[in-house]
Amino acid sequence: MGASAIREILKVVSSPGMISLAGGIPAPESFPLEIMEELTARVIRRFGAAAFQYDLTEGYFPLRKALVDLLAKRGVAATPGQIHISSGSQGVLDGLGKILIGPGDIVAVEAPTYLGAIQAFNPYEPKYVCVETDGGGVVPESLEEVLDRHPVKFVYLVPTFQNPTGRTIPLERRRRIAQIAIERGALLVEDDPYSALRYRGNPEPTIRSFAPENVVYASTLSKTFAPGLRIGFFLAPAPLDRWLVLGKQGVDLHTSTFNQALAAEYMGGGYLERQLPRIIDLYRPRQEAMLDAMDRFFPSSYSWTHPEGGMFIWAQGPAGTDTERLYHEAVKRNVAFVPGRYFYTEESAGQATMRLNFTMSDETTLGRGIETLGGVLREYA
Ligand SMILES: Cc1ncc(COP(=O)(O)O)c(C=O)c1O
Repeated sequence: MGASAIREILKVVSSPGMISLAGGIPAPESFPLEIMEELTARVIRRFGAAAFQYDLTEGYFPLRKALVDLLAKRGVAATPGQIHISSGSQGVLDGLGKILIGPGDIVAVEAPTYLGAIQAFNPYEPKYVCVETDGGGVVPESLEEVLDRHPVKFVYLVPTFQNPTGRTIPLERRRRIAQIAIERGALLVEDDPYSALRYRGNPEPTIRSFAPENVVYASTLSKTFAPGLRIGFFLAPAPLDRWLVLGKQGVDLHTSTFNQALAAEYMGGGYLERQLPRIIDLYRPRQEAMLDAMDRFFPSSYSWTHPEGGMFIWAQGPAGTDTERLYHEAVKRNVAFVPGRYFYTEESAGQATMRLNFTMSDETTLGRGIETLGGVLREYA
């Protein structure tokens, strides 16, 4: 599903002089390198050999305990025993594929959706049906129709600062979506890696908080600590949680104990509380710089999202635009982005769209990148 093409794009972006708006990863400056030695010493002092031993598949208990408060702040009530750890949130997406999808089973996804989820599900050979989206994310009437017409195994959603669009589902729709799931006995997967990266506005409650028996809630420390540590976490209704544990046992027994212990100290020791505002202060001006430059340099025939957080802006050109062609032109001028069609499960969808990432460059570079890209768009408009 376009994975090889994306890999090609990511190869191109590492060439010298390239301004990449294509990546989807956190800025290395957002990692709290200066406290890593201290954290490591604390882990060794506090947990000793236990931090280096095999551990439970469900997750290292001190981390599960530390996550209770973080989830409570998102309105998700959970005991440590209900919180499970995965190797990144990607780990639980694969686990869900493994235990829920057989060949030909139907998975409902947003159009467009997160490519990594499609990559996680594809080996289990599902068929996809698309739920319509608009500026407020998933359209509830479309979700109802999809659930009424198809035997859907589960619905995969990224409700907050979605990858790739940056869109957030507003409160009333979240309630409605939860109600639809409850009424139809449907299972939703709420993938939430970005909600902590909020630059403006008020947080929205999770869909899980309205329908805990119908929602698997997955999140991660990849954007607020360090993605290389691979710490994800999730809550799943019983008996799915048990099946996910059994599935994970056969894959990696458990996520790295040491990394989980680091994460437990990062949260429990108050480091996350201090680091998160720094990450937000790093990204907020970058996002503003990108949006300002788009206002100045993009043709008026284009429209784009104005997310209150996350890592992406999604732009849409006029009918007939082929952003893949524009991509090749932009790369010749040393700017890269991801053509939007890769985020759709349907072949011909999204030709006029593009995903722009603002976390990986400083404001000046982003401004220059958007000015150059705007020039390409105007020439080919
Ligand atoms: C929507 C979404 N889900 C999951 C992930 C995977 O994150 P993790 O590093 O926790 O595996 C990403 C990463 O970009 C993402 O955008």
